[in-house]
Amino acid sequence: MDLHDYKDVAENYDRYLEVMYGQEKDRHENFQEFYLELAKKYGAGGVVDVACGTGAVLLYLAERGIMADGTDLSEEMCKVAQAKAEKQGLKLNIYPADMTKFSSGRKYSLAIIARSGFMHLPTTELQIAALRNLHDQLEDGGVLTFNTFDPWPPMQAVQMKTTPEDYSLRLEYVNADGKRERIYNAITYNPYTQQMYGNWKFETLDDDGNVIGERVRPLMMRETYRSEVFLLAKLCGFEVVDVYRGYKGDKEDLNDPSSAAKYKGNLIWVMRKI
Ligand SMILES: C[S@@+](CC[C@H](N)C(=O)[O-])C[C@H]1O[C@@H](n2cnc3c(N)ncnc32)[C@H](O)[C@@H]1O
Repeated sequence: MDLHDYKDVAENYDRYLEVMYGQEKDRHENFQEFYLELAKKYGAGGVVDVACGTGAVLLYLAERGIMADGTDLSEEMCKVAQAKAEKQGLKLNIYPADMTKFSSGRKYSLAIIARSGFMHLPTTELQIAALRNLHDQLEDGGVLTFNTFDPWPPMQAVQMKTTPEDYSLRLEYVNADGKRERIYNAITYNPYTQQMYGNWKFETLDDDGNVIGERVRPLMMRETYRSEVFLLAKLCGFEVVDVYRGYKGDKEDLNDPSSAAKYKGNLIWVMRKI
């Protein structure tokens, strides 16, 4: 079961993500504006937000007149996104689907996988299946975007020594019931599969700070190197058009091989169907 399949996670996702991403501002700042600009540039033939979660991008676009479709593997995340859309009077097509298989019966000119959805595909086989399926869902010349966090060996070395129960405190937030919760994670790295796996632990606190409940949820993501993404693109019928360094508009110089050495962080890939 994926972390996002849990009702409690979906209901609290926006609340704790705000705190989590607030702590990693450099990585995530401006992401909604970034996708809005991509939607204006490439989305005239229809936009789909794949792995849309609770609709952070989908709703931002819709509020600005771009009515995208949304899909997510987790029914619970789709329900939260749908409820938020309805509350705002937005009629959006949001449905549970696996990105390796989904088809809505129409084609799109832009498919967005925002904020690490692609990294939730745990094997190369599933990455290829997703890219091939997304290729089929795009019109000719259509564009796909997703992000990868550049693998960083010093962090991998730390995670290789961590067990799935070696928890570190990530954050504290207030959940949908108004209760304080502490979130911990324990991440182990397997260099052969390039998988980061482990657990999230949610501790619910009473007013005096005593732990009154605990939930453990699985964690699984795959790290993908830049060279792999170029190969995956080629294999699945895409050409890489741009690689952004975060959401503020800086780009890699694709003609300069030394460009890659100058940045480690969140890479946002923009590739065109060929
Ligand atoms: C880190 S969340 C990002 C959600 C959203 N894009 C955002 O920006 O808030 C990753 C999402 O990917 C979804 N996901 C994981 N594997 C998936 C798959 N194979 N197909 C579709 N969605 C998937 C999860 O359910 C989760 O909602």
